[in-house]
Amino acid sequence: MKICLNDILYAFSYALDCVEHDLVGVTTQHSKRVAYICMFLGKGFGLNELQLNDLVACSLLHDNALTEYIQEEHINGVDIIKDKHKIDIGAHCVIGENNVKDFPFNEDVSGAILYHHENSDGSGPFGKTWLDTPLYAQLIHIADKVDAEFDLSFLTERKYEEILRYLNENINTQFSEKCVDMFIKNITYDEIFKMQNVKIEMLLKEKLPIIYKEYSSEQIISFSNLFASIIDYKSEFTKNHSMGIANKAAIMAKYYGFNEETTTKLYFAGAVHDIGKLVIDRDILEKPDKLTEDEYVHIKNHAYYTYEILRKIKGMEDITSWASMHHEKLNGSGYPFGKNASNLGFKERLMCCLDIYQALTETRPYKDGFSHDKSIRILLEMAEKNLVDKHIVNDIELVFSNQFNKARKNY
Ligand SMILES: [Fe+2]
Ligand SMILES: [Fe+2]
Ligand SMILES: [Fe+2]
Ligand SMILES: [Fe+2]
Repeated sequence: MKICLNDILYAFSYALDCVEHDLVGVTTQHSKRVAYICMFLGKGFGLNELQLNDLVACSLLHDNALTEYIQEEHINGVDIIKDKHKIDIGAHCVIGENNVKDFPFNEDVSGAILYHHENSDGSGPFGKTWLDTPLYAQLIHIADKVDAEFDLSFLTERKYEEILRYLNENINTQFSEKCVDMFIKNITYDEIFKMQNVKIEMLLKEKLPIIYKEYSSEQIISFSNLFASIIDYKSEFTKNHSMGIANKAAIMAKYYGFNEETTTKLYFAGAVHDIGKLVIDRDILEKPDKLTEDEYVHIKNHAYYTYEILRKIKGMEDITSWASMHHEKLNGSGYPFGKNASNLGFKERLMCCLDIYQALTETRPYKDGFSHDKSIRILLEMAEKNLVDKHIVNDIELVFSNQFNKARKNY
C-alpha cells in the first residue's frame, strides 16, 4: 500500500493533542508546532529530507503514550489529570518509545521519544546529559518546552523576548548551548508568527516534501496497532475494542476472499474507527450511570470526529468511509450522517456489525460481556428492525461461532 505516513500523522495529531491538552493544558496544534520548530532546527543541523521526515514524525508522536500512561495510573487509583504533581514524567517516555519500535521510520530514531524530557545537566528523568541525549530528543525537548511554557499559538513581541530570555537562562541546565543557539538563529519572530495565520500543516508540507512510500501489510498493521492501542487506552472498558475489530475485520476479509490490500485497509479502518473518541472526555466515556441527553450527544460526536480526522488524509477516502460510518443504520436512524441502506456500502455495513458484535462481547461499566450466541441473537433482532445487514450477521455467526467456542473451551 502506498501512503504518506506523515500525512496520516498530521491528521492524527489533532486527536493526540486533545489528550495532551487534558493532561498538561497545551493548546490545539501543539504537536504540529513542535514538529514545525523541530523541522527548522533539524534543517539548521544539516539533516537530509528523509531524516527531517523522521524528526517530524517523532515530534508528532512525542507524547503518543499519554492515554496509556493516564489509564495505567487510573487503574492504580491515581487520577493524574486531577493530581498533576504525581505525574511520573519518565513513564510515558518509556511506553512511548516502545510503542513506536516497529514504526516504519526511514532511519534509526532510537531514543528520540525516550529522552524527550532530558535536561542538558542530567536532571531529567533518566539522568542523561546533553552529551548522551540523541539530537532528535534534544530538539523535541526544546520545542516542546517552549510551546508548553509560552503557548506559541498566540505570539507578541514581548512574549518572543521572554522566550529568548528563558532560553538563555536555561543554557546548560535544561538545554544545550548548541540547541539554544540554533533556536535563536532559526526560529525567528516571523517564523513563529506565521504559524498563527497559516495552517501549520500547510507550512510543514510546503517546507518539507511529502514522501509517498510503498509499505508492506506488516508495516501498515504495526502502524495501525499503535493507533488502536492509543485509542483503546482512552478507557479501561475498551482496552481491546479497536484491536478486536481490526482483527475481526481482517478475518472477515479473508472469509470473503478480499485481496491483501483490501484486507489490510479493513484492518486499518477497524483500528482507527473510534479515533474520534480521543476528543471525548474520559469521564463521560467511563460513566457508570445513565448518560444525560447532552452527554449522549457528546459521545455520539466521536463518529463525526473520526470522519473529520480521517478525511484529511489523501488517498484514504475508502477507509474514511468504512471507519466513520460504523454507527450508521440501514433504516437511516444512525449517526453521524443518518445514511441509509441506499448509501451504505458492504464494507460500511460490515464495520457496523463488527463494532456492535465486539461491543456486545466486551465488559462495560454497566454490563458484563455477552456470549457469542447472545450477541448474535441481539444482532439478528437488530437486523429484523432493518438496522443492520442480516447476511453479514449470519456470516459473523458462521466465522466466529467456532472461534468463540474454541476460545471458551481453552479458557
Ligand atoms: Fe512528553
Ligand atoms: Fe508535548
Ligand atoms: Fe464508535
Ligand atoms: Fe467502536
